[in-house]
Amino acid sequence: MRHRSFAKSKLLQKELISNVSHELRTPVSILKAQLENLADGIDKPSSALFEQMVNTVDEMSDLIEFFLGLSRLQVNKQKLNLSSFSLGDYLEECVDKLTNLSNAKGLQFIIDINPENMEIVADKNRFRQIVINLVTNAIEHSNTSEKVIIQGFQNKKNNVIRFIDFGVGIPKKDSKRLFERFEQGNITTGGGTGLGLAIAQWVAQMHKGDIELLDSDKGSIFELTFPKNLS
Ligand SMILES: Nc1ncnc2c1ncn2[C@@H]1O[C@H](COP(=O)(O)OP(=O)(O)OP(=O)(O)O)[C@@H](O)[C@H]1O
Ligand SMILES: [Mg+2]
Repeated sequence: MRHRSFAKSKLLQKELISNVSHELRTPVSILKAQLENLADGIDKPSSALFEQMVNTVDEMSDLIEFFLGLSRLQVNKQKLNLSSFSLGDYLEECVDKLTNLSNAKGLQFIIDINPENMEIVADKNRFRQIVINLVTNAIEHSNTSEKVIIQGFQNKKNNVIRFIDFGVGIPKKDSKRLFERFEQGNITTGGGTGLGLAIAQWVAQMHKGDIELLDSDKGSIFELTFPKNLS
């Protein structure tokens, strides 16, 4: 019995380490790009830019704190820090940072929120993990200059956010498996670890929600659904 729980906690620790390393990758790249642009004179020093960089560091500290908290609890019982915010503004901020990265391929991002001033209640820091993982996947599997669309709307009970790309797409037979840890599709441009979708789904479930792959003629549509009222 003791052996089993020891083995289980070792497994959990390994999971936490791989999760935190995975989730730190994007903010580290964002900060590096911001610093390089300053060093190369592409961006001029400004208080707005420094504030953005401090925010990126804060996001990294939050990720470390969050995963450390989980490791102390030994169970997935970290509380969500819920607040109400404008979905459109939030997505624009996330996408802006990602499109400044060198691998963004000149993609055209369209953020289509209906109603335009739609507010959601979520944990901003956790929610960013979903957006970053789904948008980096969309970037990775799109061809240069294609469109990536993010739609947001609400039905009676739920917030619905769709991440739509027109890239290589996903064979139907792969659609469930890809949400498992370390699973990658046949069509992948490489470099990944197969953790992104599993982490995004985990965060969606923390918000009592779900991420699903919808049918599409070209490319991929990932749909995130979670309740409007989380209390
Ligand atoms: N938008 C997409 N278009 C096409 N295939 C996708 C898309 N998103 C995910 N996939 C497929 O799903 C697999 C799993 O995605 P996931 O984000 O979990 O891992 P990854 O992107 O390979 O690696 P990581 O996110 O850990 O860096 C990918 O390897 C890819 O085959
Ligand atoms: Mg990924």
